[in-house]
Amino acid sequence: MNRGRFITLEGGEGAGKSTQLRRLAEALAERSLDLVVTREPGGAAGAEQIRRLLVEGEPGRWTPMTEALLHIAARRDHLERTIWPALEAGRWVLCDRFADSTMAYQGYGLGLGRDVVARLHQVAIGEFQPDLTVILDLPPDLGLARAEARRGTETRYERMEPAFHRRLRDGFLDIARRDPGRCAVVDATAPLDDVSAAVLACVVDRCGLAPP
Ligand code: TMP
Repeated sequence: MNRGRFITLEGGEGAGKSTQLRRLAEALAERSLDLVVTREPGGAAGAEQIRRLLVEGEPGRWTPMTEALLHIAARRDHLERTIWPALEAGRWVLCDRFADSTMAYQGYGLGLGRDVVARLHQVAIGEFQPDLTVILDLPPDLGLARAEARRGTETRYERMEPAFHRRLRDGFLDIARRDPGRCAVVDATAPLDDVSAAVLACVVDRCGLAPP
């Protein structure tokens, strides 16, 4: 049976991932692809319970190591219950955040380091990787202002210091530089329709679809 594709969207706060993921799903559904749209942390019952422990409460609630382990525990549950079964059934999985978020937020942002996060992932998920990762890039002050305007309330990560948000933006760009075969960076300061077109173009190009 044909294995489906695994596509992830990444970026800092307020980059517009959820909107872009919805638009991408609509564009791919028009091509009659069988899709699963999901998110991290979350995407399975247990992982959604872990999500609440991660996004609520004070910024310093967890140490960086505990926080990374919680994200990775949620990820393993999500993979086992949702992502792997869907891919094996030939479905395409579109995911709002995945392992690069742990690398950027906990590895670069909270200072756990690349090596530690890579080793934890090696144990928990092995060599498994997205077929394509689109990173939506924008300056953190712009993203935080957008996120606050959208939600009205801040999540735990939005309350972290400005330097944290700068480190994680640099982290995402570094991840993309190190793995250009898998990652594509899209300028998320562009108008919404232009961002959507750029995201779709990446998918068409890298996943071997016919151009629109
Ligand atoms: P969301 O706001 O994109 O739904 O994600 C929830 C928060 O969790 C977001 O602020 C980023 C953070 N996060 C991490 O810190 N590490 C991770 O591995 C993941 C998946 C998310």
